Amino acid sequence: MATEWQKKAAELVAQMTLEEKASLCSGKIFWETKAVERLGVQSFMVTDGPHGLRKQAGEADHLGLNASVEATCFPTAAATACSFDPALLRQMGEALGEECRAESVGVLLGPAANIKRSPLCGRNFEYFSEDPLLTGEMAAALIEGVQSRNVGTSMKHYLANNQEKARVSSNSVVDERALREIYLAGFERAVKKAQPWTLMCSYNQINGTYASDNKRLMTDVPRGEWGFEGAIMTDWGAMNDRVQAIRAGLDLEMPGTGGANDALIVQAVRQGRLSEAEVDACAVRMTALALRLAANTATPCDKNAHHELARRVARESAVLLRRGTALPLEKGRRLAVIGEFAQRPRYQGAGSSKINPTRLVSLCDALDERGVPYAYARGFAAEGAADPALVEEALRAAAQADVVVAMVGLPDSWESEGFDRAHMELPENQNALMEALIATGKPVVAVLSTGGAVTLPWRERVDSILLMYLAGQNGGNAILDLLLGEADPCGRLAETWPLALTDTPCHGFFGGSGNVEYRESVYVGYRYYDKARREVAYPFGHGLSYTDFAYSGLTVRPAKTGSDLPLEAELTVTNIGARAGHEVVQVYVAPPAEGTFRPVRELRAFAKVWLEPGESRTVRLALDQRAFAFYDAAAGGWRMDEGEYTVEAGASSRDIRLTAPVRLEGSEPEAAPAKTLPSYCDPAASWPPSREQFEALLGAPVPPERPLRPFTSNSTLGQVRASLAGRIFYRTIRKNMEKQFSGTGDGMEEFGRIIDAMLEDMPLRQLAMLSGGAMTPAVLDGLVEMMNGHYLRGLKNMRR
Ligand code: BGC
Repeated sequence: MATEWQKKAAELVAQMTLEEKASLCSGKIFWETKAVERLGVQSFMVTDGPHGLRKQAGEADHLGLNASVEATCFPTAAATACSFDPALLRQMGEALGEECRAESVGVLLGPAANIKRSPLCGRNFEYFSEDPLLTGEMAAALIEGVQSRNVGTSMKHYLANNQEKARVSSNSVVDERALREIYLAGFERAVKKAQPWTLMCSYNQINGTYASDNKRLMTDVPRGEWGFEGAIMTDWGAMNDRVQAIRAGLDLEMPGTGGANDALIVQAVRQGRLSEAEVDACAVRMTALALRLAANTATPCDKNAHHELARRVARESAVLLRRGTALPLEKGRRLAVIGEFAQRPRYQGAGSSKINPTRLVSLCDALDERGVPYAYARGFAAEGAADPALVEEALRAAAQADVVVAMVGLPDSWESEGFDRAHMELPENQNALMEALIATGKPVVAVLSTGGAVTLPWRERVDSILLMYLAGQNGGNAILDLLLGEADPCGRLAETWPLALTDTPCHGFFGGSGNVEYRESVYVGYRYYDKARREVAYPFGHGLSYTDFAYSGLTVRPAKTGSDLPLEAELTVTNIGARAGHEVVQVYVAPPAEGTFRPVRELRAFAKVWLEPGESRTVRLALDQRAFAFYDAAAGGWRMDEGEYTVEAGASSRDIRLTAPVRLEGSEPEAAPAKTLPSYCDPAASWPPSREQFEALLGAPVPPERPLRPFTSNSTLGQVRASLAGRIFYRTIRKNMEKQFSGTGDGMEEFGRIIDAMLEDMPLRQLAMLSGGAMTPAVLDGLVEMMNGHYLRGLKNMRR
């Protein structure tokens, strides 16, 4: 944020009372910050995010339960990352910024930039990639787009929030090198490139400290090392210890606790436990945001244009996983369209990002509107059991067709914020339908709608597979554009699709509720599959086109005379097919054979180029020192081993077309290769790493799990049910929530699951947020006493 705002803000903050300053550190209501009217500091509205606006005009919640105003629902990040196209993401960001302006929203709560550690994470649909470079580039572009409209963003969920199970209470145990190279790297890139106005801290602990209290992660790293100038807010209810969090540099608690925590800040300053300067720093950052937004006026925007943009984004993010002969569809061929999703699209995910779309176009709508003849059969009930009658009907439609387009994928209730998937399968009724369709001998084109990777037992037996992920409100038109060949599929996978869940690097170390050991360290996604030499269904970076491309002439040389780095890789790409199309050129770097353990290759640059048939283009990509470096945790910095690196250019992580060797000097001091960690040096030989190896990498023992008793304010509602008072309390809360959300209609079933999952792992202290201030620190103390069996003391505490 420009320092001019901070200067002005500092002048105003100097005139504020301590109470006023503390008041700026928490929300006024669910979606608004507080004002200091007498000094002209206005409150502003923040709203989800990330791929559309979820502005709630009435009842508020952070789980997508209550209604929100209509907004354009763009494809989710799982899809948009596959575009490998920052310019496109920037345009989408501009449109989001315009919708925020039209609704007087000051900060959009996104992008969501957590790394996909396991395909099971319930929120993977909202996240970009398993790769931090791609994540950082996509996030930066979206941020630049939104902020170009003078609307802020909140890059989230910072940090190491890679599962939904127990997201509010678990402890991510991650070694420093993995933090730096994988989990921080995307945030780092986007912060340095695009300066999001805010970051949002996650709920979880990182190596034993809640994100909100973590000074190293809230201040030292982003502000000290990366130059982050913005403010940091909590995720909704992610505040652990308000006073410690001020010291950590956590500016804004959302949605707030009705002033209770503001009072704790004031009290801590008065008692000399907290310096006023630390409160000032937070108040200045909040005031600067308010000043920056003050001139915004509500400006209408063009929702029709955004609807069209949503179609383009979906189209240019779609990945052709398998290409047979049926696509693009030839005119005049009889078409059977099978699958409930063709009529009732699966186009977005559940939870806080759930958008109320301005329009919704299914594949059937698009076919009807363009007058393309087809026969439709439902084929399966998305949320129902196997139904032979539906399969029969589908087979009848297929019998009359030349080509079958089958729309399959994950049902709505299977992936959501709040819980993870338990497996990677598609519903049985859909697989059975696919088998029946394949058995007809007709060419089958599978169109997939899913928020994450799934296993496809029939993948080698269909003609083609077009992966849409969750394609947003105009996905139907995008699918039809691609099927008809009016557009060329040009998305590339932003995550590996493994063959089986048991192949995934964190298998057995994902989804726990206490310590979550990130045993795999830097071996996330293709970094693992390549090193372990595992077959995969579809590799990272994979995606086909209706045309083909040839690569030639890779050279690597210093970008400037007189210095080794940065380097510039140059190569030529030629469209050798008969149709125009986009190629995504990917440049990876492979480390020297000797030295510190490292992945086989890592994505270091990419470019998307448009080529007419026969056309060639020269692509130049810069490779700076970081492209060759690893994080040396012992020395506390980025280092390079001396030796021969290989620059690789290809069409996916497993389709390397050209290589060029580069000899580089190592950086001082020489790092000692970690030869004593066999699983990390050679995952193909032994996996997973033992506890001993992991602890050696971590440089500390894995912390003991917290004992169940005595209960504390950080005990979860699931845990306190072990006591009588806890059971009664749990039942009361559950009933209240049911009452509160009954009547929110449609998605109540999936919401029921979200609520149950949320309550199970929710720390007691979080109820302060849900109670809108009724649960004061004294009431909370008293409750905890009672759960520990001290009823009288508990009652006394409550009355304090
Ligand atoms: C989610 C955030 C979201 C917030 C507000 C939380 O449950 O984790 O991503 O921005 O709610 O809705």
